[in-house]
Amino acid sequence: MHRIVLLGPPGAGKGTQAKRLATELGIAHLSTGDMLRAAAAQGTSLGREADGYMRRGLLVPDALVLSILRERLASPDAQRGFVLDGYPRTVAQAHSLAEITPVEHVLYFEIPESVLVERLSQRRSCPVDGSVYNLVTQPPRVPGRCDRDGTPLIQRPDDTEEAVRTRLAVYREVTVPLLDLYRTQGLLRTVAAGGSVEEVAARVREALR
Ligand code: AP5
Repeated sequence: MHRIVLLGPPGAGKGTQAKRLATELGIAHLSTGDMLRAAAAQGTSLGREADGYMRRGLLVPDALVLSILRERLASPDAQRGFVLDGYPRTVAQAHSLAEITPVEHVLYFEIPESVLVERLSQRRSCPVDGSVYNLVTQPPRVPGRCDRDGTPLIQRPDDTEEAVRTRLAVYREVTVPLLDLYRTQGLLRTVAAGGSVEEVAARVREALR
C-alpha cells in the first residue's frame, strides 16, 4: 500500500503533483488545505475559525486540522493508500500522524524561493471544483474560466504578497525541522521541484522506486 507524504514550501507544486500521483496510483489525495477551504466555503464553525488563520498565512491550530484529517483518513477511499499534501507541517503533527498511521515515503520538494513567489502570484483556482491553474505555466483554455465548468477563476486570499511572506516564514520556522525528523527515520527523498510539471512528475516517480 502507498502511504506518501509530500513536504515543501508553499507553491512548490505539492498539490499539482499530489493530484496526478493519486490518480496514477489509484489512491486518495488528502490535502488539509483543500479540506479547510471546503469547510470555510460551507461556513461550518470549524471552517469559519480556520479561515481567519488561513487568510493571514498562519497555521490553523493542530486540534482543528487533526479532527478534519482523522475523519478523512478513516473514509473508505483512503484505505487503499494516500498522498498526504500539507500534513504534517509541524513536528507535533508528525507525531500525531504516526499515532494514526505509518507512512512509507516522504518526498521533499526542493525549490528556490524566487520561483515560489512567481508561481503563487500567477496561480488561479476554481472555487467550485478546486482545479488549479497558472496564468503562465498552466493557463485555462478560456482566459479567467475553469476548463471543467466555466466558473470564473479566483485568486486565493492567502496568495497576497503579505500572506505569502508570512507563509514562507512559518514554513522556515516550523516545517523545515520536519526534514531532519524524517531524514533521521530514513524516509526522506528529495525531489528537485523546478522545471515543468511533467519533469517534476518523472522525478517523483523515480523517487518512489
Ligand atoms: P495549503 O493549501 O496546504 O497551501 P501550501 O502548503 O501553502 O501550498 P500551496 O497550495 O500554496 O502550494 P502547492 O505546493 O500545493 O503548489 P501548487 O501545486 O498549487 O495550505 C493553506 C493554508 O491552510 C495554510 O497556510 C494553513 O493556514 C492551512 N493549513 C493547511 N494544512 C495545515 C496543517 N497541516 N496545519 C495547520 N494549518 C494548515 O502550485 C502552485 C502554482 O504553481 C500553481 O499555479 C501551479 O499551476 C503552478 N505549478 C505547479 N507545478 C509547476 C511546475 N512544475 N512548473 C510550473 N508551474 C507549476
